[in-house]
Amino acid sequence: MPLHTFAAAGRPTQRTAETAADPVPLTVPRRLAGALAQVCTLEMDGHQWSAGNVTAARAAVAAAGDLALVTGLRQQLARDLDGPGWALVTLPPEFADEDLQVVSAAVLALIGKPFYSIEQEGRLWIGGPSSPHRDAASFGGFGAQPVHVDAPNVEHVPDYTSLLVLRPDPGDGGQTLLADLQSTAAGMTEADRGVLRRREFFEGRADRLLGVGAPLLPFPILDEDPAGGRPWIRWAGKLLHDSRNQQHLPVLRRFAAAIDAHTHSVAVGRGQLLIADQQRIAHGRTSLGPPRSSGHPRCLLQAKICHDMFAPAQTAPVVRHG
Ligand SMILES: [Fe+2]
Repeated sequence: MPLHTFAAAGRPTQRTAETAADPVPLTVPRRLAGALAQVCTLEMDGHQWSAGNVTAARAAVAAAGDLALVTGLRQQLARDLDGPGWALVTLPPEFADEDLQVVSAAVLALIGKPFYSIEQEGRLWIGGPSSPHRDAASFGGFGAQPVHVDAPNVEHVPDYTSLLVLRPDPGDGGQTLLADLQSTAAGMTEADRGVLRRREFFEGRADRLLGVGAPLLPFPILDEDPAGGRPWIRWAGKLLHDSRNQQHLPVLRRFAAAIDAHTHSVAVGRGQLLIADQQRIAHGRTSLGPPRSSGHPRCLLQAKICHDMFAPAQTAPVVRHG
């Protein structure tokens, strides 16, 4: 039976198995959000949020002197710590859509450097209203989406991904799924891990992506760090349906079954920003409610973050005495 965890957007969230401690929901105070909306914009420098915006966001947060947000992000997302690897950040939902995008980008800049890997009119935040006319399992589709990391098939998997909800599903579906990849891989047999280490897996194509290096097809699912650090786990549910992986279907099925036991379900409401470290956490969604003839469908945006070891949430918080 699923276990209730914390409430987000006024609705209970569930998890399907015991995993690491749940992250505490974080909040961008209204005053800080207003300051960030004042000093930052959506201006880009190529596929990256402009350096001026990154600097302005970090300076505004430092000037506010409120360490709770940075400390919370650090505890939950910093690469050198063993936090849960995901965070849910609440912004003032009454802010206009564009301001929510600006403030969310500023939050991402506390972790690294925001960018887009898929060009969509040069916007940092890609996506928009969901449509029943899209492939059901795609981003912006109406169906369930198996858990996956974004762009598993490139040299440099985007370090972090984020989802910003401007309008939740009026059909009360579309919960976000978050799956602990490291725990899943650690629970596989050594024989299966040996197969997952082979560079013999295919998933989709990797054309015209930005900021992620060259396509890597085939790729190893379990991509170990020669220096002994945390491995990358290039997982996508679609691996099971790619005919090029036929010979490895049994191990893929075992991994897919195992990951179910490490998957959370989270309801994300308007003005909430979900951030996941792709080295630790895969994401997906439950299906949306049936399309409606009137009203507006869910509106979801996404942006990526490149790791920056000098970002405020990647460095030790200042300890003040006295
Ligand atoms: Fe995704």
